[in-house]
Amino acid sequence: MKEQIETIKQEALDHQVPIMCDESIEYIVINLLKYRCKSILEVGTAVGFSALSIASAIPDAIITTIERDEIRYVKAINNIDQLNLSHRVNALLIDALDYQCTEMVDALIIDAAKAQNKTFFDRFFPFVKPRGIVIVDNLDFHGHNEHIDMLTNRRNLRQMVNKIKAFEDYVNNRADLDVERVFVGDGMMLIRRVGHSFNFNE
Ligand SMILES: C[S@@+](CC[C@H](N)C(=O)[O-])C[C@H]1O[C@@H](n2cnc3c(N)ncnc32)[C@H](O)[C@@H]1O
Repeated sequence: MKEQIETIKQEALDHQVPIMCDESIEYIVINLLKYRCKSILEVGTAVGFSALSIASAIPDAIITTIERDEIRYVKAINNIDQLNLSHRVNALLIDALDYQCTEMVDALIIDAAKAQNKTFFDRFFPFVKPRGIVIVDNLDFHGHNEHIDMLTNRRNLRQMVNKIKAFEDYVNNRADLDVERVFVGDGMMLIRRVGHSFNFNE
């Protein structure tokens, strides 16, 4: 399965499909295992690379993953079928802003339109179990976050970087949240509710 996932990764890179780097996947898997997360909602499937990497690393993980781009979704479905993981990786073709979550999950992974991190967080966080975790990727946005003052001529990019920063401020300022910011991959964040560290019965 490792080889097949490597092929999916290479194909995605060859076609300029944005996917997580290996370091980010590793950080996610370590934390999903640490916090004993089995049910996972991922926003941003692309071609299924991260979902399939997680599913292959954690044999009892069940992942619902949402993608709004039809071409990527179809590719993801093919990849999931090829790895015989359709019983554990459920890809949905829908805009996350229209997706109605009905079940509580152990973990939420946000890896979609970066300017909408807060919208996704507010929409899906109520469906993360009390002891559950949220992981957000690409907070450094390819290093632009560090050099925002140099983006004066690139209005859209500057706006996006500002929104990513505003999301960080928002979660950091919430007293009910415990936030771990790490400089892994393109910058990631692990968010948990304060006071629910290790009660796995919740
Ligand atoms: C960075 S890629 C996801 C990569 C994937 N997690 C991986 O590492 O293999 C982000 C994806 O989110 C999708 N996306 C962006 N906004 C979305 C939305 N509102 N609803 C669903 N998908 C969205 C994009 O089409 C894109 O394919």
